[in-house]
Amino acid sequence: MRTIVVGGQYGDEGKGKIVSYLAMKDNPEIVVRGGVGPNAGHQVRVNGKLYSLRLLPCGFVNSRARLLIGAGVLIDKDVLLKEMELTGAADRTGIDRNATLITPDHKIRDSDDHAKKIGTTGSGCGPAMSDRVTRVARTVAEEPTLERYLTDVWKEVNSKKNVLIEGSQGFMLSNVYGTYPFTTSKDTGASTTAADVGLGPRSIDRVVMVVKAYTTRIGAGPFPDEISMDEAKRLGYQEYGTVTGRARRTSAALHMEDLKRAAVINSATDIAITKLDVRFKGNEHVRSFEKLTDEAKDFVKMLEHQIGVPVTLIGTGPDLEDTIDLR
Ligand code: IMP
Ligand code: MG
Repeated sequence: MRTIVVGGQYGDEGKGKIVSYLAMKDNPEIVVRGGVGPNAGHQVRVNGKLYSLRLLPCGFVNSRARLLIGAGVLIDKDVLLKEMELTGAADRTGIDRNATLITPDHKIRDSDDHAKKIGTTGSGCGPAMSDRVTRVARTVAEEPTLERYLTDVWKEVNSKKNVLIEGSQGFMLSNVYGTYPFTTSKDTGASTTAADVGLGPRSIDRVVMVVKAYTTRIGAGPFPDEISMDEAKRLGYQEYGTVTGRARRTSAALHMEDLKRAAVINSATDIAITKLDVRFKGNEHVRSFEKLTDEAKDFVKMLEHQIGVPVTLIGTGPDLEDTIDLR
Protein backbone atom coordinates (compact mmCIF):
# COMPACT_ATOMS: atom_id res chain seq x y z
CA MET A 1 0.00 0.00 0.00
CA ARG A 2 1.29 3.45 -0.91
CA THR A 3 -0.47 6.16 1.09
CA ILE A 4 -0.13 9.93 0.80
CA VAL A 5 -1.07 12.24 3.69
CA VAL A 6 -1.91 15.84 2.74
CA GLY A 7 -3.43 18.84 4.48
CA GLY A 8 -6.96 19.94 3.55
CA GLN A 9 -6.89 23.45 5.03
CA TYR A 10 -4.14 26.04 5.69
CA GLY A 11 -1.48 23.71 7.10
CA ASP A 12 -1.28 22.81 10.77
CA GLU A 13 -4.12 20.31 10.46
CA GLY A 14 -2.15 17.79 12.49
CA LYS A 15 -0.50 15.86 9.66
CA GLY A 16 2.44 15.04 11.94
CA LYS A 17 0.30 13.09 14.34
CA ILE A 18 -1.53 11.22 11.55
CA VAL A 19 1.70 10.32 9.72
CA SER A 20 3.27 9.04 12.94
CA TYR A 21 0.17 7.04 13.81
CA LEU A 22 0.15 5.41 10.35
CA ALA A 23 3.90 4.80 10.56
CA MET A 24 3.41 2.81 13.76
CA LYS A 25 0.20 1.07 12.77
CA ASP A 26 0.89 0.17 9.13
CA ASN A 27 4.60 -0.48 9.55
CA PRO A 28 5.75 1.03 6.21
CA GLU A 29 9.18 0.07 4.86
CA ILE A 30 9.72 3.71 3.90
CA VAL A 31 8.32 7.00 5.17
CA VAL A 32 9.14 9.72 2.67
CA ARG A 33 8.71 13.47 2.91
CA GLY A 34 7.29 15.43 -0.03
CA GLY A 35 5.99 19.01 0.04
CA VAL A 36 7.77 22.35 0.10
CA GLY A 37 10.54 22.35 2.71
CA PRO A 38 11.43 23.50 6.23
CA ASN A 39 8.64 26.09 6.25
CA ALA A 40 6.56 23.22 7.65
CA GLY A 41 6.42 22.36 11.33
CA HIS A 42 5.09 18.88 12.02
CA GLN A 43 4.56 17.94 15.64
CA VAL A 44 4.54 14.46 17.03
CA ARG A 45 4.28 13.37 20.65
CA VAL A 46 5.70 9.99 21.59
CA ASN A 47 5.99 8.68 25.14
CA GLY A 48 5.21 12.13 26.46
CA LYS A 49 8.01 13.77 24.47
CA LEU A 50 7.15 16.44 21.87
CA TYR A 51 9.12 16.62 18.60
CA SER A 52 8.72 19.49 16.13
CA LEU A 53 10.09 18.37 12.79
CA ARG A 54 10.55 20.58 9.74
CA LEU A 55 12.23 18.18 7.29
CA LEU A 56 12.68 14.69 8.68
CA PRO A 57 9.56 12.54 8.15
CA CYS A 58 7.40 12.19 11.27
CA GLY A 59 7.43 8.45 10.59
CA PHE A 60 10.80 8.34 12.41
CA VAL A 61 8.76 7.08 15.38
CA ASN A 62 8.83 3.67 13.73
CA SER A 63 12.48 2.67 14.14
CA ARG A 64 12.22 0.03 11.40
CA ALA A 65 11.28 2.54 8.70
CA ARG A 66 13.74 4.01 6.22
CA LEU A 67 13.36 7.83 6.18
CA LEU A 68 13.63 9.64 2.87
CA ILE A 69 13.27 13.19 1.58
CA GLY A 70 12.16 13.61 -2.04
CA ALA A 71 13.81 15.52 -4.88
CA GLY A 72 11.08 18.17 -4.83
CA VAL A 73 11.75 19.19 -1.23
CA LEU A 74 13.91 22.20 -0.31
CA ILE A 75 16.67 21.34 2.17
CA ASP A 76 18.09 23.52 4.94
CA LYS A 77 21.11 21.47 5.98
CA ASP A 78 21.32 22.96 9.48
CA VAL A 79 17.69 22.13 10.20
CA LEU A 80 18.02 18.60 8.85
CA LEU A 81 21.31 17.75 10.57
CA LYS A 82 19.85 18.92 13.88
CA GLU A 83 16.73 16.81 13.42
CA MET A 84 18.75 13.70 12.57
CA GLU A 85 20.72 14.24 15.76
CA LEU A 86 17.64 14.90 17.89
CA THR A 87 15.91 11.74 16.69
CA GLY A 88 19.01 9.57 16.38
CA ALA A 89 17.78 8.57 12.94
CA ALA A 90 20.76 9.65 10.79
CA ASP A 91 21.78 6.12 9.80
CA ARG A 92 18.40 5.39 8.19
CA THR A 93 17.90 8.77 6.48
CA GLY A 94 18.33 9.45 2.76
CA ILE A 95 18.01 12.65 0.71
CA ASP A 96 17.43 12.71 -3.03
CA ARG A 97 20.51 14.03 -4.79
CA ASN A 98 18.39 16.35 -6.95
CA ALA A 99 16.89 18.23 -3.99
CA THR A 100 17.49 21.97 -3.77
CA LEU A 101 19.70 23.52 -1.11
CA ILE A 102 18.48 26.55 0.86
CA THR A 103 21.35 29.01 1.39
CA PRO A 104 21.78 31.84 3.95
CA ASP A 105 21.03 34.27 1.12
CA HIS A 106 17.60 32.66 0.60
CA LYS A 107 16.74 33.25 4.24
CA ILE A 108 17.75 36.89 4.03
CA ARG A 109 15.61 37.39 0.93
CA ASP A 110 12.71 35.66 2.70
CA SER A 111 12.48 38.52 5.18
CA ASP A 112 12.23 41.39 2.68
CA ASP A 113 9.18 43.67 2.46
CA HIS A 114 7.32 41.45 0.03
CA ALA A 115 7.86 38.33 2.14
CA LYS A 116 6.61 40.30 5.16
CA LYS A 117 3.49 41.33 3.26
CA ILE A 118 2.72 37.65 2.52
CA GLY A 119 3.71 36.72 6.07
CA THR A 120 6.09 33.94 5.01
CA THR A 121 7.81 31.73 7.55
CA GLY A 122 11.17 33.33 6.70
CA SER A 123 12.70 29.88 6.18
CA GLY A 124 14.06 30.74 2.71
CA CYS A 125 11.67 28.48 0.83
CA GLY A 126 10.17 31.03 -1.59
CA PRO A 127 13.54 32.45 -2.73
CA ALA A 128 15.07 28.94 -3.02
CA MET A 129 12.13 27.81 -5.14
CA SER A 130 12.48 30.91 -7.27
CA ASP A 131 16.19 30.19 -7.83
CA ARG A 132 15.36 26.62 -8.77
CA VAL A 133 12.85 27.83 -11.35
CA THR A 134 15.35 30.26 -12.86
CA ARG A 135 18.01 27.51 -12.69
CA VAL A 136 20.51 29.26 -10.49
CA ALA A 137 19.90 27.23 -7.32
CA ARG A 138 22.44 24.83 -5.85
CA THR A 139 21.53 21.23 -5.13
CA VAL A 140 22.30 19.11 -2.08
CA ALA A 141 24.95 17.30 -4.16
CA GLU A 142 27.11 20.41 -3.77
CA GLU A 143 26.98 20.26 0.03
CA PRO A 144 29.77 18.05 1.50
CA THR A 145 28.07 17.56 4.91
CA LEU A 146 25.11 15.89 3.20
CA GLU A 147 27.08 13.64 0.84
CA ARG A 148 26.74 10.46 2.88
CA TYR A 149 22.94 10.74 2.89
CA LEU A 150 22.43 11.16 -0.85
CA THR A 151 20.37 8.57 -2.69
CA ASP A 152 17.88 8.12 -5.54
CA VAL A 153 14.61 8.45 -3.66
CA TRP A 154 12.53 7.71 -6.76
CA LYS A 155 14.28 4.35 -7.10
CA GLU A 156 13.82 3.39 -3.46
CA VAL A 157 10.13 4.32 -3.24
CA ASN A 158 9.27 2.58 -6.51
CA SER A 159 10.99 -0.60 -5.36
CA LYS A 160 8.87 -0.97 -2.19
CA LYS A 161 5.19 -1.72 -1.79
CA ASN A 162 4.49 -0.36 1.69
CA VAL A 163 5.34 3.35 1.54
CA LEU A 164 3.96 6.29 3.49
CA ILE A 165 4.28 9.74 1.90
CA GLU A 166 4.13 12.84 4.05
CA GLY A 167 2.99 16.07 2.40
CA SER A 168 3.32 19.54 3.89
CA GLN A 169 1.24 22.71 4.26
CA GLY A 170 -2.41 22.61 3.26
CA PHE A 171 -4.50 22.84 0.13
CA MET A 172 -5.51 26.49 0.70
CA LEU A 173 -1.82 27.43 0.74
CA SER A 174 -1.22 25.81 -2.67
CA ASN A 175 0.47 28.21 -5.05
CA VAL A 176 -1.86 26.90 -7.77
CA TYR A 177 -5.20 26.31 -6.00
CA GLY A 178 -4.93 28.32 -2.80
CA THR A 179 -5.49 31.96 -1.92
CA TYR A 180 -2.82 33.30 -4.30
CA PRO A 181 -0.73 35.46 -3.77
CA PHE A 182 -1.13 34.60 -0.09
CA THR A 183 0.18 31.08 -0.54
CA THR A 184 3.35 29.07 -0.24
CA SER A 185 5.73 28.74 -3.18
CA LYS A 186 4.32 25.65 -4.90
CA ASP A 187 1.32 23.36 -5.19
CA THR A 188 0.59 21.38 -2.02
CA GLY A 189 -1.81 18.78 -3.44
CA ALA A 190 -1.44 15.01 -3.49
CA SER A 191 -0.30 14.83 -7.13
CA THR A 192 2.55 17.27 -6.57
CA THR A 193 3.46 15.53 -3.31
CA ALA A 194 3.70 12.21 -5.18
CA ALA A 195 5.82 13.83 -7.89
CA ASP A 196 8.07 15.34 -5.21
CA VAL A 197 9.19 11.86 -4.19
CA GLY A 198 9.23 10.26 -7.65
CA LEU A 199 5.90 8.41 -7.64
CA GLY A 200 3.56 8.57 -10.64
CA PRO A 201 -0.26 8.91 -10.44
CA ARG A 202 -0.94 5.19 -10.88
CA SER A 203 1.33 4.11 -8.04
CA ILE A 204 -0.69 5.69 -5.24
CA ASP A 205 -3.33 3.58 -3.46
CA ARG A 206 -4.70 5.92 -0.80
CA VAL A 207 -4.84 9.67 -0.27
CA VAL A 208 -5.59 10.73 3.30
CA MET A 209 -6.70 14.35 3.55
CA VAL A 210 -6.26 15.71 7.06
CA VAL A 211 -8.92 18.15 8.29
CA LYS A 212 -8.77 19.83 11.69
CA ALA A 213 -12.15 20.11 13.45
CA TYR A 214 -11.82 23.91 13.37
CA THR A 215 -9.98 26.23 10.97
CA THR A 216 -6.76 28.16 11.61
CA ARG A 217 -4.42 30.09 9.36
CA ILE A 218 -1.02 31.66 9.96
CA GLY A 219 0.27 34.57 7.87
CA ALA A 220 -1.63 37.07 5.74
CA GLY A 221 -4.48 36.50 3.29
CA PRO A 222 -8.24 36.05 3.09
CA PHE A 223 -9.84 34.06 5.90
CA PRO A 224 -13.65 33.92 6.08
CA ASP A 225 -15.47 34.13 9.44
CA GLU A 226 -12.32 35.08 11.32
CA ILE A 227 -12.81 35.56 15.07
CA SER A 228 -10.81 37.57 17.59
CA MET A 229 -7.98 36.08 19.58
CA ASP A 230 -10.02 36.50 22.77
CA GLU A 231 -12.87 34.53 21.26
CA ALA A 232 -10.45 31.85 19.98
CA LYS A 233 -8.96 31.55 23.45
CA ARG A 234 -12.39 31.27 25.03
CA LEU A 235 -13.20 28.37 22.68
CA GLY A 236 -9.83 26.74 23.38
CA TYR A 237 -8.83 27.05 19.70
CA GLN A 238 -5.96 29.53 19.98
CA GLU A 239 -2.73 28.06 18.57
CA TYR A 240 0.82 29.28 17.94
CA GLY A 241 3.05 28.46 14.96
CA THR A 242 5.51 25.57 15.29
CA VAL A 243 8.16 27.24 13.11
CA THR A 244 7.57 30.92 13.75
CA GLY A 245 5.84 31.04 17.15
CA ARG A 246 3.33 33.49 15.66
CA ALA A 247 -0.27 33.41 16.86
CA ARG A 248 -2.49 31.54 14.42
CA ARG A 249 -5.67 33.16 13.19
CA THR A 250 -8.91 31.30 13.88
CA SER A 251 -12.17 31.06 11.94
CA ALA A 252 -15.54 30.30 13.48
CA ALA A 253 -16.42 27.94 10.65
CA LEU A 254 -15.24 24.97 8.64
CA HIS A 255 -15.06 26.13 5.03
CA MET A 256 -17.08 23.36 3.42
CA GLU A 257 -16.82 24.50 -0.21
CA ASP A 258 -13.03 24.70 0.10
CA LEU A 259 -12.89 21.24 1.67
CA LYS A 260 -15.05 19.73 -1.07
CA ARG A 261 -12.83 21.21 -3.77
CA ALA A 262 -9.68 20.07 -1.96
CA ALA A 263 -11.05 16.50 -1.70
CA VAL A 264 -11.75 16.40 -5.44
CA ILE A 265 -8.43 17.81 -6.62
CA ASN A 266 -6.49 15.65 -4.14
CA SER A 267 -8.58 12.60 -5.14
CA ALA A 268 -8.92 11.91 -1.42
CA THR A 269 -9.90 8.37 -0.49
CA ASP A 270 -9.95 9.00 3.27
CA ILE A 271 -10.48 11.91 5.61
CA ALA A 272 -8.63 12.13 8.92
CA ILE A 273 -10.24 14.52 11.41
CA THR A 274 -7.92 15.91 14.06
CA LYS A 275 -8.60 17.68 17.36
CA LEU A 276 -12.18 16.51 17.61
CA ASP A 277 -11.68 16.59 21.40
CA VAL A 278 -10.77 20.28 21.25
CA ARG A 279 -13.92 21.15 19.37
CA PHE A 280 -16.27 18.93 21.41
CA LYS A 281 -15.66 18.60 25.13
CA GLY A 282 -16.06 15.17 26.67
CA ASN A 283 -14.21 13.33 23.88
CA GLU A 284 -10.65 13.57 25.19
CA HIS A 285 -8.66 10.33 24.63
CA VAL A 286 -11.74 8.48 23.36
CA ARG A 287 -10.59 5.46 21.36
CA SER A 288 -13.75 4.08 19.81
CA PHE A 289 -16.42 5.72 17.67
CA GLU A 290 -19.26 4.42 19.89
CA LYS A 291 -17.84 6.25 22.90
CA LEU A 292 -17.87 9.69 21.23
CA THR A 293 -20.57 12.14 22.33
CA ASP A 294 -23.61 12.38 20.03
CA GLU A 295 -22.59 15.89 19.03
CA ALA A 296 -19.13 14.69 17.96
CA LYS A 297 -20.58 11.70 16.09
CA ASP A 298 -23.00 13.97 14.20
CA PHE A 299 -20.14 16.27 13.25
CA VAL A 300 -18.13 13.37 11.81
CA LYS A 301 -21.14 12.11 9.85
CA MET A 302 -21.91 15.61 8.58
CA LEU A 303 -18.34 16.06 7.29
CA GLU A 304 -18.33 12.67 5.63
CA HIS A 305 -21.69 13.32 3.98
CA GLN A 306 -20.87 16.83 2.77
CA ILE A 307 -17.40 16.08 1.45
CA GLY A 308 -18.44 12.70 0.10
CA VAL A 309 -15.34 10.88 1.36
CA PRO A 310 -15.28 8.47 4.32
CA VAL A 311 -13.79 9.64 7.60
CA THR A 312 -11.49 6.78 8.59
CA LEU A 313 -9.25 8.33 11.25
CA ILE A 314 -10.24 10.57 14.15
CA GLY A 315 -7.86 12.28 16.57
CA THR A 316 -9.01 12.78 20.17
CA GLY A 317 -5.76 13.86 21.82
CA PRO A 318 -2.07 14.54 21.19
CA ASP A 319 -0.76 11.01 21.80
CA LEU A 320 -0.62 8.49 18.98
CA GLU A 321 -2.96 6.16 20.88
CA ASP A 322 -5.60 8.92 20.96
CA THR A 323 -6.78 7.86 17.52
CA ILE A 324 -9.97 6.16 16.39
CA ASP A 325 -9.19 3.97 13.39
CA LEU A 326 -12.22 3.10 11.27
CA ARG A 327 -10.33 1.74 8.28
P1 IMP B 1 6.27 30.40 3.01
O1 IMP B 1 5.82 29.01 2.68
O2 IMP B 1 7.27 30.46 4.13
O3 IMP B 1 6.71 31.17 1.78
O4 IMP B 1 4.98 31.20 3.57
C1 IMP B 1 3.88 31.50 2.74
C2 IMP B 1 2.58 31.36 3.52
O5 IMP B 1 2.34 29.99 3.83
C3 IMP B 1 2.54 32.12 4.84
O6 IMP B 1 1.22 32.53 5.08
C4 IMP B 1 2.94 31.04 5.85
O7 IMP B 1 2.47 31.34 7.14
C5 IMP B 1 2.22 29.85 5.24
N1 IMP B 1 2.84 28.57 5.62
C6 IMP B 1 3.94 28.00 5.08
N2 IMP B 1 4.19 26.81 5.65
C7 IMP B 1 3.24 26.60 6.55
C8 IMP B 1 2.93 25.51 7.43
O8 IMP B 1 3.62 24.49 7.50
N3 IMP B 1 1.85 25.67 8.22
C9 IMP B 1 1.07 26.77 8.15
N4 IMP B 1 1.29 27.80 7.35
C10 IMP B 1 2.36 27.71 6.54
MG1 MG C 1 2.64 23.11 11.18
